[in-house]
Amino acid sequence: MGATTADNIARKELAEEVILLDIKEGFAEGKAMDMMQTATLVGFDTKVKGVTNDYAATAGTDVAVITSGIPRKPGMTREELIGTNASIVKGVADNILKYSPNAIIIVVSNPMDTMTYLALKATGLPKNRIIGMGGILDSSRFKFYLSQALNCSPNDLQAVVIGGHGDTTMIPLTRLATLNSFPVSNLLSEEALAKVAADTMVGGATLTKLIGTSAWYAPGAATCALVESIVRDEKKVFPCCVSLEGEYGQSDICLGVPVVIGKNGWEKIVDFKLNASEQEAFNKSADAVRNMNSVLSTLTL
Ligand SMILES: NC(=O)c1ccc[n+]([C@@H]2O[C@H](COP(=O)([O-])OP(=O)(O)OC[C@H]3O[C@@H](n4cnc5c(N)ncnc54)[C@H](O)[C@@H]3O)[C@@H](O)[C@H]2O)c1
Repeated sequence: MGATTADNIARKELAEEVILLDIKEGFAEGKAMDMMQTATLVGFDTKVKGVTNDYAATAGTDVAVITSGIPRKPGMTREELIGTNASIVKGVADNILKYSPNAIIIVVSNPMDTMTYLALKATGLPKNRIIGMGGILDSSRFKFYLSQALNCSPNDLQAVVIGGHGDTTMIPLTRLATLNSFPVSNLLSEEALAKVAADTMVGGATLTKLIGTSAWYAPGAATCALVESIVRDEKKVFPCCVSLEGEYGQSDICLGVPVVIGKNGWEKIVDFKLNASEQEAFNKSADAVRNMNSVLSTLTL
């Protein structure tokens, strides 16, 4: 996933240099070399360099993306990864900041909502510099399934997934989804719309079953879109996992909500008023994520 993100960033020339860092000896070096050998074919000038656990090589990083850890296998939930990934994510975040104290950190490793919360608490960084990536990917999957149901281009759809990044915690906002401004709820039956939402929620698990591991292309493209909005200060609105302090009725939690993404990280929460059933789903999602967060205190990190 990290390599696919780097590949997207290089192809778009969003940075002068991208450093891939992995704990596995020679792995990041090999991935970087393979990518650099596409430079003359694709036509990019970004330098991609791989290092094994050498954080000094990452000094001065503007945006750091944490994808380290283990992915799920078929039949596993994202939540089952917490024991292994929590200490990895904490260690990686600490090391990044040692050499790049001003970095904006994007957390991708699962269970992402809890890993984002952990990164926020463990680093003590200002909240706007810690962003969890999940909602952009889930929204893209939502648009994919909607486009299949409507037989239309996914690019003509606006649709957002908020809440947690788990099979049961994400909330595809079907009421607000539109096809070029026309509500899709007027174009699809209730049953069809419910199926789209259900397929979206298990979108990652469907791919894991097919591929045998976690997906890479859409997660890499989604993370790249986030990086792009930061480095180009685009101020795009993406659903991201961020620290809530009363917004959407929740506090002391990191959860997916629409935010403005720019050069300062997440700059503003779009605090949209949900209807009663959406707010109830959001509260339930928060309860489940909070439950998972409570596991952190039982781990030795
Ligand atoms: N948030 C999302 O939307 C989303 C999407 C896809 C994947 N993921 C998550 O991202 C993570 C990575 O997925 P993947 O498919 O790339 O897995 P992967 O196994 O292909 O890659 C993970 C890499 O992390 C490395 N690693 C492990 N410990 C490390 C450490 N301490 N320091 C540096 N590197 C370390 C491993 O050597 C491995 O190369 C998983 O937790 C997965 O569940 C999240």
